[in-house]
Amino acid sequence: MDHIKAIAFDLYGTLFDVHSVSSRCDEQFPGRGQEISNVWRQKQLEYTWLRSLMNRYIPFEHVTEEALRYTGRHLGLALDDNTCRSLSDAYLHLQPFAEVPDALRELRQRGLKLAILSNGSPHSIGAVVGHAGLRNSFDHLLSVDPVRVYKPDNRAYELAEHAFGLNRTEILFVSSNAWDATGARYFGFPTAWINRGGKVFDEMGQRPDWEVNGLDALVKLLGAAK
Ligand code: LAC
Repeated sequence: MDHIKAIAFDLYGTLFDVHSVSSRCDEQFPGRGQEISNVWRQKQLEYTWLRSLMNRYIPFEHVTEEALRYTGRHLGLALDDNTCRSLSDAYLHLQPFAEVPDALRELRQRGLKLAILSNGSPHSIGAVVGHAGLRNSFDHLLSVDPVRVYKPDNRAYELAEHAFGLNRTEILFVSSNAWDATGARYFGFPTAWINRGGKVFDEMGQRPDWEVNGLDALVKLLGAAK
């Protein structure tokens, strides 16, 4: 990893735990929080891919809300507008995974440039990172919003190359989402897959360059390469 000068992180599921919304869902619909959160996240992702294919971009918060409305109907929940808004709001207050703040600090101390490259809107990314007190950990917060297409479209990954002013081979892309790591690798980023849950990687013709079980392990790996 000697040639790595910068790191671009995916946000949802990689730095921040999307299933931290499940406790909010559980308060509204006792015993069903995890189920709601799982369907909601999966639909949210599907809608980003479908909207990109159809060339029908809308900002990520709206996709998130549409996915929640689907989830409510699919699971037969009484989801009125207020509940829907308050649950969607939980996506702005996600918790970072426990090891993330220290790992980011360590990476910056080593002189690496850091960015988030997310499907989230500028508002969502700013809110999530701000609530966690991590704004100063990053050189760039990059939303796909200016290109109006979602990852894994190449135009989304290009945003990191332009922001850092580096060649893609010098930027490590880090994601816990296998589809995102696959897209990044096709684009040409060296890619680390954060596999916290012992999952299997996707079968779409790529493998990550590195697989680790958390950001702390990634920090060690980068240290070992120097
Ligand atoms: C993101 C989602 C897709 O942050 O994880 O881009």
